[in-house]
Amino acid sequence: MDEIYQFPKDFLWGVAISSYQTEGNNFASDWYAWEKIGKIKDGSLSGRACDFYHLYREDIDLAKSLNLNTFRLSIEWSRIEPKEGEFNQKEINYYRKILTYLKEKKFKVFLTLWHFTLPSWLARKGGWQNKKSVFYFTRFVEKVVPEYSDLVNFWLTINEPLIYLSCAYFLELWPPEKKNLIAGLKVFFNLVKAHQKSYRVIHQILPQAKVGLANNLVYFRPVKERYLDKKLAEIFNAFYNHSFYRFTKGTHDFIGLNYYTCHRVEFLKIAELIKRMTSENPETRTIRKEIYPEGLYFILKDLKKFNLPIYITENGLADEGDARRRRFILRHLKYLWQAIQEEVDVGGYLHWSLIDNFEWHEGFKPKFGLVKIDYETLKRIPRKSAYLYQEICQKNALTKEIVEKYDPERMKEIFPKVI
Ligand code: FCB
Repeated sequence: MDEIYQFPKDFLWGVAISSYQTEGNNFASDWYAWEKIGKIKDGSLSGRACDFYHLYREDIDLAKSLNLNTFRLSIEWSRIEPKEGEFNQKEINYYRKILTYLKEKKFKVFLTLWHFTLPSWLARKGGWQNKKSVFYFTRFVEKVVPEYSDLVNFWLTINEPLIYLSCAYFLELWPPEKKNLIAGLKVFFNLVKAHQKSYRVIHQILPQAKVGLANNLVYFRPVKERYLDKKLAEIFNAFYNHSFYRFTKGTHDFIGLNYYTCHRVEFLKIAELIKRMTSENPETRTIRKEIYPEGLYFILKDLKKFNLPIYITENGLADEGDARRRRFILRHLKYLWQAIQEEVDVGGYLHWSLIDNFEWHEGFKPKFGLVKIDYETLKRIPRKSAYLYQEICQKNALTKEIVEKYDPERMKEIFPKVI
């Protein structure tokens, strides 16, 4: 046991991507118009992105060659309903082709129904601020679910409601670039309702469906073992990490966890923490902070109280040179394994991302891919960490040999008892 961290039988190993970030040419989306007015930090436009739209077979084959058994992707609402109430059957069929190909290749599929981008017609009507957005979204869900019912294993209604809310309604980083508490609250409650209603709609169509959402949780890390720091961390945890689950209680068949970062919590520096959470870092224009793999363990232990199976629906880092990604994967998986040993029901791990892609307002600069994209030629070039992940997935385990081969310097950290 000391030399191998074995994962449960039938564990899901996969990757996650989203439509807007990879497909290219999503003309009818709010982001497409917004990018054009010079909003992206590195001046880029999503353009053809990774051209996943045409190259999806190649990317799915790539995922297969990495020994993955699970694939998370999203469908683009603005392609399917480019004009209010007018559904484009050709695009509906297009996604069916991708999902069919995934099934042929024996992938389990997580399908996200909404991943940050809106059809322009809805954005013009106020997007999620408009209370009719719940109706529009549910109508879209009613339309697409029967189309893909035989091809999807896990339905994710929405992606990261709180990240969307903070970037679009507080930090002015994403369309509609607001800083408005009232608007933000409206959006929050409309997203709550959209999730609840679509949960019910999917279950009416498919009583056995597994439905959840992908939520980004942050580990609030008390700086010291001091009572007040720990209390404050608990409050932030309840407020930030639990709020969406609490409001949508009873409408989750599983928990989809996106884990990236931690925030240090110190009672005496509370103002600093709030500032960090509510304003962008002027240098990086990102709200993500510190990478802390152990935080994944603490979050998983905490989520156990919801008594639902958990899937890691995203976890990854931007690392163009691939100098840190191997270590990142090894450390996160070790803590994930540890949580499983302590009876947390985790059924799978999906790395963000398979390929480099369009990272929202940061453009193409952050490179999250296990596989590099040469944007000139669109060639896919696996990074070394892709091979590390490939071996872990193949063995369904993290072994001493793998660490020895891919990151020997981490041996002591990953297998302390072996040294
Ligand atoms: C998550 C988003 C995903 C991608 C990664 C890096 O917050 O869900 O689209 O941007 O971060």
